[in-house]
Amino acid sequence: MSGPTVNLDNPALVAPKRLKPLFAPGTDKDQALVIFVLGGPGAGKGTQCANLVRDYGFKHLSAGDLLREEQQRPGSEFGEMIKTYIKEGKIVPMEVTIQLLENAMKATIEENGNRKFLIDGFPRKMDQAIKFEEVVVPSKFTLFFDCPEETMRARLLNRGLTSGRSDDNEESIKKRFVTFVETSMPVVNMFNNEGRVIKVDATKTPEEVYEVVVKEFASKGLEFMQK
Ligand code: C5P
Ligand code: MG
Repeated sequence: MSGPTVNLDNPALVAPKRLKPLFAPGTDKDQALVIFVLGGPGAGKGTQCANLVRDYGFKHLSAGDLLREEQQRPGSEFGEMIKTYIKEGKIVPMEVTIQLLENAMKATIEENGNRKFLIDGFPRKMDQAIKFEEVVVPSKFTLFFDCPEETMRARLLNRGLTSGRSDDNEESIKKRFVTFVETSMPVVNMFNNEGRVIKVDATKTPEEVYEVVVKEFASKGLEFMQK
C-alpha cells in the first residue's frame, strides 16, 4: 500500500537484538506468562479477555488498543502511519507493535508485579509471531476464537453504531477480513500445527463461550490462578 512507512533507521524502533527473550527463565527480568488471544475482527476477543481478567487476574493488553493510544498520543511520530493502517485494515509494521507491547508489559510489572498477560489481537502476522517469541517471551498457548464472517460482520456493524472506531464500517470490515484470512490465519495454523492452540467456537453467547474457555483453561492446568 502507499502512504507513510515506518523509518527503520530509527534506533528506537529496531527490534532489539537479544540472545535470549527478555522474559525467558533465568534472565534478569525473570519469567512472564503470555497467552495470545486471536480470532477475526468481532470474534469476541476483548469481551472474553475482560472475563479472564476478572477471574484469573491477567493483565489484558490489546495490540489494537495500544496502537490506537499511540496514534492519539500528542507528538507521536507514528500517529499518521498507524491511522492509515487501521483504516485500511492492514497490519502495522511489527517494530512498532512489539515495542508498544514490551513497554506495556514492563510498565505493568513495575506498577504491581503482575506478570500474567493476555495479549489480544497479536500476533496478526508471521513475522511478529516469530520475533515476539524470540525477543520478548514464548507464549504458553494461543486462545483462538473461531467465528464465521457473517456473525463477525453483524457484531462489528452493531459495535460501529457506538464505538466511534474508524474501521467499524462496511468498507474497512471487508479489508480486515481479507487481512485476517491471508495474513493472520497462517499464524494460527502454524501454532496449531505445533499443538499450541486452544480453539473455541465463538458463535454462541458471551456467557456460553466463556464457559468453554474456563474448561479449556482448567485442562491446561490454569485453574489454580482463579480468584
Ligand atoms: O484488534 P483490533 O481489531 O482492535 O485491531 C485494529 C487494527 O489495528 C487492525 O485492523 C490493524 O490495522 C491494527 N493492528 C495491527 N497489528 C496488530 C493488531 C492490530 O496492525 N497486531
Ligand atoms: Mg479488540
